[in-house]
Amino acid sequence: MWIDKILNKNKKIMALSPMADMTDSPFCRIVRQIGGVDIVFREMVSSEALVRGSEKTLKMAEFHKTERPIVQQIFGADPLIMARSADIVMQHSNPEGIDINMGCPVYKITSNFNGCALMKDPELASKIIKEMKSAIGDTPLSVKIRLGWSNPDDFKIFIPAIERAGVDLITVHGRTKEQGYSGVSDWQRIAEAKKIATVPLLANGDIHEPSQVSEALEITGADGVLIARGALGNPWFFDMIGKNGEMVSLDERKRVVLEHLKLHIEHYGERGIVTFRKHLSWYFKTNKIGQNLPNIKEWRSKIVQVKTLEEVESLLGELN
Ligand SMILES: Cc1cc2nc3c(=O)[nH]c(=O)nc-3n(C[C@H](O)[C@H](O)[C@H](O)COP(=O)(O)O)c2cc1C
Repeated sequence: MWIDKILNKNKKIMALSPMADMTDSPFCRIVRQIGGVDIVFREMVSSEALVRGSEKTLKMAEFHKTERPIVQQIFGADPLIMARSADIVMQHSNPEGIDINMGCPVYKITSNFNGCALMKDPELASKIIKEMKSAIGDTPLSVKIRLGWSNPDDFKIFIPAIERAGVDLITVHGRTKEQGYSGVSDWQRIAEAKKIATVPLLANGDIHEPSQVSEALEITGADGVLIARGALGNPWFFDMIGKNGEMVSLDERKRVVLEHLKLHIEHYGERGIVTFRKHLSWYFKTNKIGQNLPNIKEWRSKIVQVKTLEEVESLLGELN
């Protein structure tokens, strides 16, 4: 099982966090190619859509062999539908783990009692876990939560409840649902969560730079970290951990952007160029490049409007 395989090496778990529209197959392949990551969490997929037989959703839960080991995240609130959907994913692409989204704060998700809304009902959350466990057998089942819905101490009741239901690993994002993305991730409270938990626990939230990983681990005492925005436009994040703030060269950045774009087009077809613009925007933020290049503002406004691979190649050629 993926969790023990990493922890038995006496190392912390370095994980790519699930991000809707971002941690798709091409991005996970790029992060894997560069290296340093132990496990990648793929973006959430809808349990209802999987059970309805949506081709598009099923495709979202397909993996290239180089992405493994991989965890597929699922969202939903109906225990039987969640169990059925986990079984569908296992049959279809056999990931090393399944994760349940109990942390998403977005209205579209919580209004159906999905995502973080489940933290308001530990009993329902437990039912979901039990049904999913019986559907997927020995495959590890993890859960990603926030500190709570509005009370940052909700986790103190929620963690023991989901552990009793049989969860194998928990990730805690150190904010409440009501905070959304405001304030900062409370690493001290994640440390309290770690003390309560009896299963491995990963810390998440505001670990934006590789140099912050050791501090986050020290403060939280967690068994690993889950990195989200820090890895956007920076698939080198994991490879740079422990390298004293070293940055990749502009040439390496351009090489990886093109490689990532090619995988993206291979996966989504030519229309992929348009959906790749969000990655381009992350790759060329000043803090990601690590230097202020001349005329970057005008250049950036052009790169986020590209329609062809040739346009991207030509604009990259202009950047020095
Ligand atoms: C674009 C985007 C999409 C996200 N999608 C998901 C998701 O599908 N599932 C999930 O559990 N969290 C999702 N998150 C939350 C992140 O996984 C993570 O918990 C949060 O961004 C805090 O970590 P960070 O400070 O490292 O970004 C998403 C975040 C972003 C920025």
